Amino acid sequence: MTHRVVQWTTGNVGKQSVAAIVAKPELELVGCYAWSPEKDGRDVGELCGLPPLGVQATADVDALLALRPDCVVYNPMWPSTDELVRILGSGINVVSTAAFINGRRLGAERERLVDACTRGGASLFGSGINPGFVELLGIVSAGICDRIDKVTINEAAYTMGYDSPETEKPAGFGRPIDDPELQKMTAQGTAVFGEAVALVADALGIELDEICCEAEYAQATEDLDLGSWQIAAGCVAGIAGAWRGRIGDRTLVELTFRWKKAPVLDPDWPIEDGHVIEIQGRPTVRTTLSFLPPPDFEAETLADFMVLGHVMTAMPAINAIPAVVAAAPGLVSYADIQLPLPRGIVRP
Ligand SMILES: NC(=O)c1ccc[n+]([C@@H]2O[C@H](COP(=O)([O-])OP(=O)(O)OC[C@H]3O[C@@H](n4cnc5c(N)ncnc54)[C@H](OP(=O)(O)O)[C@@H]3O)[C@@H](O)[C@H]2O)c1
Repeated sequence: MTHRVVQWTTGNVGKQSVAAIVAKPELELVGCYAWSPEKDGRDVGELCGLPPLGVQATADVDALLALRPDCVVYNPMWPSTDELVRILGSGINVVSTAAFINGRRLGAERERLVDACTRGGASLFGSGINPGFVELLGIVSAGICDRIDKVTINEAAYTMGYDSPETEKPAGFGRPIDDPELQKMTAQGTAVFGEAVALVADALGIELDEICCEAEYAQATEDLDLGSWQIAAGCVAGIAGAWRGRIGDRTLVELTFRWKKAPVLDPDWPIEDGHVIEIQGRPTVRTTLSFLPPPDFEAETLADFMVLGHVMTAMPAINAIPAVVAAAPGLVSYADIQLPLPRGIVRP
């Protein structure tokens, strides 16, 4: 069965989504949204470093909805509830990497999304590498325990190659280390990780009393030139945050992240790149997610290597398309859909 797909934007992740849609026999690219005016009317293959695909990117949302695709692959820099309501209300499913897991942090906006899903008979699903796939790995890892005391998911990364000031500054990067607003900024700027904590709790079948964020900060010891922006000495260049899901005063689900924008910061937390999942229980299970480029991978710059991260962000959403199309209408997560399978990507 082939699913007809519209791609939403062709940025870092979107380019890899397009490559995967084109490569997978069960998906057909029928349209593409261009947020940038200069991409309007251009061939999507050309925009994504691929041969021409005969599909033009367009800023005309009505024309894209009129294509009646089975699914939109939603990879914009910022999600828009208005945009999502329009797509879902038209009966088109959405798989997103843009700050959505279950929408619990969205308040009234979430109700608008639920209404649109009901009206259109469509589903909205969010994933990515983290939040997203790493929580699925945690849920799967917990499947060999007969008792679970706590689930901890740790992400640690040098993020020098992740050049995204628009998404990093709201979390507190670049602010003076003693800025009193920092805790609030990090909680708002990383709120989708709170949704990921809720996803794990849903999968465990537990009701959390609260989900909260606490963070510590490390300052740059010298002025940092990050290419498209700078962080001055004495300003935040490292954030170590934890989203905790509690019942009473007991933490049941913990999602931590440690991001550093320079090798040496003050304080100088160690970084072991990757994701480590620990299920405390019987037995205690440790799962480590690390990755390497394949032997034929060509990369000369840090930006080239970042492509692997964009692939890992795109694929959990792409692989979920058949399960999301088949799902009952509504906001759906890994706790609701069939296990996505990595079909159609084994190369002969
Ligand atoms: N869950 C995860 O693991 C994970 C990991 C990484 C990223 N993400 C998320 O995935 C999404 C895509 O990331 P990315 O690195 O591919 O993003 P990006 O390249 O920075 O931006 C994606 C596209 O968004 C459009 N855009 C640019 N500025 C915009 C603005 N101010 N408002 C609305 N749209 C704008 C552009 O569309 P055009 O293509 O038309 O120019 C751009 O190419 C983001 O929401 C990001 O936070 C999730």
